[in-house]
Amino acid sequence: MDRNPLCCLPTPLHRLERIDLGVELWIKRDDLTGFALGGNKGRKLEFLAQEWLRTTPTAIVTCGASDSNFIRQLAVLGRMLGIVVHAAVMDLPYDEFAGRPERVSKMHQGGNERLSRESGAIFHKFPDDDWEVLYGHMHRIAEDLGPNTAIVPVGGSSPLGVYAFVQAAMEVGGEFDTIVCASSSGSTQVGLTTAFQGTSTKVVGIAADPEPALVEDFADISRQYTDRFGGKPLEPEDFTLDLRFVGPGYGVPSEAGQNAQAVLLGSEGIYLDPIYSAKAFAGLLKLAEEERLGNKVLFWHTGGLPSLFSEYG
Ligand SMILES: Cc1ncc(COP(=O)(O)O)c(C=O)c1O
Repeated sequence: MDRNPLCCLPTPLHRLERIDLGVELWIKRDDLTGFALGGNKGRKLEFLAQEWLRTTPTAIVTCGASDSNFIRQLAVLGRMLGIVVHAAVMDLPYDEFAGRPERVSKMHQGGNERLSRESGAIFHKFPDDDWEVLYGHMHRIAEDLGPNTAIVPVGGSSPLGVYAFVQAAMEVGGEFDTIVCASSSGSTQVGLTTAFQGTSTKVVGIAADPEPALVEDFADISRQYTDRFGGKPLEPEDFTLDLRFVGPGYGVPSEAGQNAQAVLLGSEGIYLDPIYSAKAFAGLLKLAEEERLGNKVLFWHTGGLPSLFSEYG
């Protein structure tokens, strides 16, 4: 597959020597992918961009939280390609069974939302509801826009999103016992798990959403990937997804995440975002304490730093 070179790849991979967790700790700096303020989504967009250059849609529609990192980067890409990006958004979409997080009042406009709008994305904002309702809004908007509209799933978790992270794994090699990353729409974890399946490297996703059934969605994304690219699809039990670090809910900072953010910033001078990577690093700290990581550990920093400029009520 051709990539449209948007990112600065390979991203840096370096050791974290100042934090002593009793393991050899490394970090993969996808916060520094370089495209539209960095983060994991740039990798997926490199391949999606190639597809859109071929299929020339007149509009692209996606959905997500108002403060979505993916929408921020997609909005910039749309502007570069001259394609209007429409985003169906809610401030805090939630899982039907988990419900809306408690103890949260309305979030003020987040850092990503401001950048997405400034880049020309058209926001269709709906009252908070569950994800299925949001997907419905996205499909209705696409229908209204007509047949030459491309729909890109939440977080860019299409087969090309998985492909991007199968490729990303090649920047790392097989010497790690465990790779820990934040996980939400799934293609980051599905791609890395696909790449390391059958090796001694275990990929552990730290969930940003309180949804145990997400591994079934991941298996579905894996099936879509293998339908297009070949190979054997992964099953739900092939994924290790740790749900203990979501905190109050998707899109809301957690106390453990904020503490983990302070640990990494105070020791290594590296920022984490409050919604994904800080919770993932909180998971890593706990797993290290539980001695469940092996000796050589990689933290995959997925970026998301504009959310540091969001206010949470
Ligand atoms: C900063 C950040 N980290 C991690 C993730 C999770 O990646 P994925 O959606 O591929 O599971 C996202 C997106 O949702 C994100 O924006």
